[in-house]
Amino acid sequence: MAIKSLDELRKIREASAKKVNLRETGNSSEDIIEVLIGMATCGIAAGARETLNTFIDEIDKKDIKNIRVIQVGCMGYCHSEPTVQVNIPGNSPVLYGNVDEKMAIDIIEKHILNNELLDENILIKTFEKA
Ligand code: FES
Repeated sequence: MAIKSLDELRKIREASAKKVNLRETGNSSEDIIEVLIGMATCGIAAGARETLNTFIDEIDKKDIKNIRVIQVGCMGYCHSEPTVQVNIPGNSPVLYGNVDEKMAIDIIEKHILNNELLDENILIKTFEKA
């Protein structure tokens, strides 16, 4: 893609900064929702990159502010990759398996925005927060 103007370059820079912010890792804060995406080799082979990009794009589209998408390593569930853990402050963490792009959208719309669990894809929901 050829960049034709300084203004165009600025827009691209702002859009990238927003995406990097969403993926930022770091300490969790009390009022921030965390979405942990398992990015071990098995996860990537099963489509975790597409899952990660879907989360980032949808969060951006829906302009959800108090959320952080974090890439993590092995979560120990090779058989159910891509895996995604959702940490909502005040609730037990929930680990989902087989999270494809469609399910990533469902997790945002149902679990994150409406506090509705997607029972069929839950691997665990009773462990301590990672
Ligand atoms: S190597 Fe696949 S979950 Fe650990």
